[in-house]
Amino acid sequence: MASTTQLDTSTILSRYFAANRCVEREFSGEPLPVKGEIPAALRGTLYRNGNGRFVHQGVPYDHLFDGDGMIAAFELSDAGIHYRNRYVRTREFVAEEQAGKMLYRGFGTNLPGGIRNNFMKMRFKNTANTSLVWHAGQLLALWEGGLPHRIDPETLETLGRYDYGGTLQNRFSPIDRLINPELPFSAHPKIHPDTGVLHNFGTAAGTRQRLVLYEVKPGGSARISQTIPLSELIFTHDFVLTQSGYRIFFLTPVSFDVFRAFTGLSSPVASIRVDRRKPTKILVVAPDGRLTALETDFCFVFHFVNGYEQSDRHLVVDALTLPDFPSAESTKAFLRGKVSSDLKGEAWRYELDLGEGKVRRERLTAYGAELPCHHPGRQGRNYRYLWCISSPDRPDRPILDGLLKLDVQTGKPQFRDLQGCLPGEPVFVPAPNARAEDEGWLLYTLFDAERLQTELVIADAASLDTLATACLPHNIPLGFHGLWLNEGEA
Ligand SMILES: [Fe+2]
Repeated sequence: MASTTQLDTSTILSRYFAANRCVEREFSGEPLPVKGEIPAALRGTLYRNGNGRFVHQGVPYDHLFDGDGMIAAFELSDAGIHYRNRYVRTREFVAEEQAGKMLYRGFGTNLPGGIRNNFMKMRFKNTANTSLVWHAGQLLALWEGGLPHRIDPETLETLGRYDYGGTLQNRFSPIDRLINPELPFSAHPKIHPDTGVLHNFGTAAGTRQRLVLYEVKPGGSARISQTIPLSELIFTHDFVLTQSGYRIFFLTPVSFDVFRAFTGLSSPVASIRVDRRKPTKILVVAPDGRLTALETDFCFVFHFVNGYEQSDRHLVVDALTLPDFPSAESTKAFLRGKVSSDLKGEAWRYELDLGEGKVRRERLTAYGAELPCHHPGRQGRNYRYLWCISSPDRPDRPILDGLLKLDVQTGKPQFRDLQGCLPGEPVFVPAPNARAEDEGWLLYTLFDAERLQTELVIADAASLDTLATACLPHNIPLGFHGLWLNEGEA
């Protein structure tokens, strides 16, 4: 990693976004040059999902979430590290390629041509760009607005849209089906470590706004376990699943204007209304489906770290909160290379007293925090370590150009300054037969703002020390979530 300490933040950002160029080429097992030592026990594949390109046929996308989904896979074997990448061939991606122009609206990007070209265009492009999940023998690329896509774990080819045997077909009413023929399936499912059941949700627009809860058994059979009416279509990206099966949602007063979004008067993100005077509602769905609603101060949450039961009536939720919802304008400016601290979250602990209906909260650290991970075996359980991308709490460090390991029990932070190089989400891989919760490795991509290259980094999860790096043949634009599968697991 080159040192870029001499570069100021705007220089780093301008270099980063200048280099945030489209990925034009797909590789199929390219050997990567490796520096350092790949741990002998680390064998398997890291899959990453994210934006492959922010420009289509010359039209720049307006939102960070609108890039066309591209899966990158790094296979770690005795032969080294081999790289492969493929765009997800969603129905809309293929149609646009064939047409040679944009045909669909996005979450934050309307078609060029104003209202004339967008009015009543109610079908959105499924970019399949947000995350990946491996469950019931299938690798799925996820996007929270529509159906998952099956991906071949070897070749990364797109095998097709996946509606869980019809479970995701909208059966609410003919008008609901007209608005949304298929139900959304969020990009943050949780797999219960004991039962192997996958839990997920979707926020569905229609004649009524609904929070739809799903359960998928380890064999793959799926059902809608519960439908919860919402007064508004609230932007909800993630949720918490505890060991006993509590599901916790932060329903923030950040909601879509469904009429404007679906008729094309604005993009969905530009239709969002934020009412900071209102509290954030915390909705707790008990294992038997009973609902408890609590309230806390206004905040916006993209990602939760984890959550667990402290006792029968006391739940703990660790969330990365933002003081406001990042506006369509600020996110567009961010994509064009303007400094923005809108996406810099803070780690907060929320203690929920279900008996008293009270919420107590405290900040876990002053460091900025986004894209968190923890030990996969601690899902829904009391846990100790959080890893995330981060930066110190200083006005001259608005971008998350470091890694943080936080002991959430003692509050002790461990920060690795990446000095202007921008990390992607870290993925924690436990070492075989590990005894400590932080015994294992962190895998993340790192964009070097000085050399304009992306590399894969393998780090010691306990110390954050880099053990090995592998340089890619191209840069990967800013992405979202990934997945590790041990050798032989897929
Ligand atoms: Fe996410």
